[in-house]
Amino acid sequence: MYRSHNCGELNASHINTKVTLAGWVQKSRDKGFIVWVDLRDRYGITQLVFDEERSSKTLLQQAQNLGREFVIQVKGTVIERASKNPNMPTGAIELLVSELTILNEALLPPFTIEDKTDGGEELRMKYRYLDIRRNPVKNSLIFRHKVAQAVRNYLSKEGFIEVETPYLIKSTPEGARDFVVPSRMNAGQFYALPQSPQTFKQLLMVGGMDKYFQIVKCFRDEDLRADRQPEFTQIDCEMAFIEQEDILNAFEGLTRHLLKEVNGVEVEKFPRMLYDDAMRLYGNDKPDIRFGMEFCPLTPKEGNFGFPVFDDAQLVVGITVEGCAHYTRKQIDALIDWVKRPQIGANGLVWIKYNEDGSLTSSVNKFFDEAALKHFSEEMKAKAGDLMLIMAESTNKVRSQLSALRMELAEQLGLRKPNEFAPLWVLDFPLLEWDEDTKRYHAMHHPFTSPKPGQLELLKTNPGAVKANAYDLVLNGNEIGGGSIRIHDKETQALMFDYLGFTPEQAKAQFGFLMDAFQYGAPPHGGLAFGLDRLVAILGGQETIRDFIAFPKNNSGRDVMIDAPAAIDNLQLQELHLKVEL
Ligand code: AMO
Repeated sequence: MYRSHNCGELNASHINTKVTLAGWVQKSRDKGFIVWVDLRDRYGITQLVFDEERSSKTLLQQAQNLGREFVIQVKGTVIERASKNPNMPTGAIELLVSELTILNEALLPPFTIEDKTDGGEELRMKYRYLDIRRNPVKNSLIFRHKVAQAVRNYLSKEGFIEVETPYLIKSTPEGARDFVVPSRMNAGQFYALPQSPQTFKQLLMVGGMDKYFQIVKCFRDEDLRADRQPEFTQIDCEMAFIEQEDILNAFEGLTRHLLKEVNGVEVEKFPRMLYDDAMRLYGNDKPDIRFGMEFCPLTPKEGNFGFPVFDDAQLVVGITVEGCAHYTRKQIDALIDWVKRPQIGANGLVWIKYNEDGSLTSSVNKFFDEAALKHFSEEMKAKAGDLMLIMAESTNKVRSQLSALRMELAEQLGLRKPNEFAPLWVLDFPLLEWDEDTKRYHAMHHPFTSPKPGQLELLKTNPGAVKANAYDLVLNGNEIGGGSIRIHDKETQALMFDYLGFTPEQAKAQFGFLMDAFQYGAPPHGGLAFGLDRLVAILGGQETIRDFIAFPKNNSGRDVMIDAPAAIDNLQLQELHLKVEL
């Protein structure tokens, strides 16, 4: 038996008990005649004590030679600690060791394995197995397990069946690039790793599975950010004989259950907002609604503004920052510099202060008199003490720039409270999205999403205006899930492929299997997928998903621990019918 107890469970009730523990040496303090060692395992830390009086000389020496992260087993008696530590579950006791076995020695770790570490991100990724020993990472993984378990239990109870779908498939267009896998047995042919199990879950509906879910890895070769990894996990779901309302209710139920079970938070309301309104009010399709600062468009009091920057812009729009009229020149300049950074790309920022004494001052006094400023502050519903920040540009640009500024200000003002949860459904996304690079419309969600009833005709005349039966669930300003009601007849699906620029031959080659299946009694169906990594991170009060993934990739898509991707040898290349470098 390696251990009778773990390092987190011994307390005053165990005093005088003989126990065996095993774990890692976190640190030791050597006073010469007495040595204390913190022994760590997954469950906690127990203090070990070796001393001249009560231990043998060899044992004391053995303890003195222990290095950090040595793996040891100790036998001994639980005794009361002289100086207790009320902050530790095991703080009332220590283990007087009578026998010590070194199970394995360890090199000095490249960073300290404690809650606060001196190791940088890249170093910790290289030695991820050491990082996982640290509480913050370990606890995040345990938290993820808890969320995944709660998801499985809830969906199973609701009658969903978990079905596994293949990883070696044919490309599914979800907007990103595929990772491809060459086939050895089929020269010159490739599998693609799924960007999602989208077509398979639809086929499961044709197969009569009715309510499907899967906690599943998805692969997308796209630019990485804090909330994006090249391989990530979805809670993927699909249902048959349902309408949009049924899906929203089912997954509102799941989210409510998770918030209650995992965070102990009851969220009553899941407000709903149309995509167009989200863009108009927040400049963004995933607004954080935990705070205000909604967008207010500005109009000239009469005629035009008389200020070229505003007159030449497609949209002049601002946000009112409550109680910030006292901002100094320096603070405002910092905001101006922030929006001018290349990542945001704004030309500038106009400010108006509604001072506490009721007067109005602004960066554009030259162009606007007191009456004009008053008119703007009425449009922006500002009151004494508020700061108004205004931007002018083409509609799309100004929306994304002001939306970034709104989030930055909320961050600076402490309005994005991690333990406050504000879910929001965003509904009626556009079916298509114009792509400047290819000068073509692309499916905004994916090509299997159905247009809103009666809008199919509009595809011919005004494709950009067609709305889809598509919805996203947003939590605290993050898109945690998205889905749609699908097309389930061959004709409409063929029409969609046609509008998306596929020839009938291309559509048949790529999606013939789906259109064939639609001819054998496909039920009306729809579904959605949550991003598990994002969901877990947000429930855990964070936005970086990397910390909730056991072995994540860095921002260049590399696993720096195993050093992947890597070259393969010529023999392997040859077998795969790939070009051999000489
Ligand atoms: P979608 O592409 O919106 O929908 O993806 C669903 C959810 O997956 C998460 N997500 C990601 N998380 C981490 N890293 C990534 N690279 C990444 N990409 C997406 C997001 C997102 O909301 N097949 C459809 C679902 C459906 O229609 O049922 C789909 O995949 O949280």
